[in-house]
Amino acid sequence: MAETDGSAPRVSAAEVQAQAEILQKYLDATEAPADLDDDRVRVSAFVAKHHNEGRKIAVVTSGGTAVNLEKRAVRFIDNFSTGRRGAATVEHLLERGYAVVMLSRQGSAAPFARTLQDATSTAFDSKFMDCLVVDEATGAVRIECKADTAAASLVQAIREHQSFTKNGMLLHISFKYLSDYMLKLRMCGECAAPAGPSAIFILAAAVSDFHIPPDQMAEHKIQSRSGPLSLDLSQVPKALGVLRFHWAPHSFFVSFKLETDHDILISKAQQSIEKYDMHMVVANELLSRYKRISLVTRAGETIVTKRSEEEEVEIPMVEALCAAHAQFCSDAPKA
Ligand code: PMT
Repeated sequence: MAETDGSAPRVSAAEVQAQAEILQKYLDATEAPADLDDDRVRVSAFVAKHHNEGRKIAVVTSGGTAVNLEKRAVRFIDNFSTGRRGAATVEHLLERGYAVVMLSRQGSAAPFARTLQDATSTAFDSKFMDCLVVDEATGAVRIECKADTAAASLVQAIREHQSFTKNGMLLHISFKYLSDYMLKLRMCGECAAPAGPSAIFILAAAVSDFHIPPDQMAEHKIQSRSGPLSLDLSQVPKALGVLRFHWAPHSFFVSFKLETDHDILISKAQQSIEKYDMHMVVANELLSRYKRISLVTRAGETIVTKRSEEEEVEIPMVEALCAAHAQFCSDAPKA
């Protein structure tokens, strides 16, 4: 445990108010995704049910946001993230009894299904199609494969997925574009707010810092005949402070910081604590992110590593997040 300076000043209410106003203008000008209202109904009912039944709620964001260059988007700029961190985190939270809302990028790694995604791409290689058998009488598809390690983990993942989804412990909603993400993050914040301290937000999504504001975006496909394209991107309004202080002010917040330069990683994580009053920041470097992470709080930095070759780093990470959340819940004023 390496100690860092825990004496950083907290963000001022005036600063958060200014961020909220800028963000509100952006959200007002943003076209809502078609499924936003349905998702709101589902998330709100999910939180109410599990909170009434005494469960802790986790909202996990995962995957990268895409920034469209045209309103009828043909081209976009993407943020890197496979979604594996978020998917693994969701699985380990479910194992610990949390009811989980997952907000993830369409097509990125999904809880339990990631085993199948691995199977189709790497473990079984292109031979995966050979494992699928069609029953000619019913049209049903069966997977028939050798009882090797990859097959065994696939069977286990299918069973776990079925058990958690049957119990209604996982609600999965999705985004593709930055604008969808921002509107759905606000919706999740507002819907989870009634759970107060029992809700934990784990923000593993990689969110674009730059975009074309809605009022400056071309309606139709940008044409190539006018020569090279110069893009002038604006900064995306900051949402972390608004989520933390306005949308779900009594909940527990874990944000993430990804860097490729080790020398600035921890100071950038500390800035998230100073600027947005995050309770914890998971700091990771691109190349070592599945082996080693740092958990940064106002009290200092704890390094978490894989405990064995087989165990993923998200297991000790989720253990530490749950312990910090439990402490937060017991310290919170009783309603
Ligand atoms: O998906 P993998 O390939 O498994 O990789 C995992 C990961 C490296 C993507 C993940 O561990 C990680 O570090 N995610 C955050 C990457 C990052 O630095 O994000 P950011 O700088 O865009 O945002 C910082 C934090 O604010 C993040 O927690 C982000 O989710 C949150 N944020 C940012 C802007 C915004 N509008 N809303 C947010 O919630």
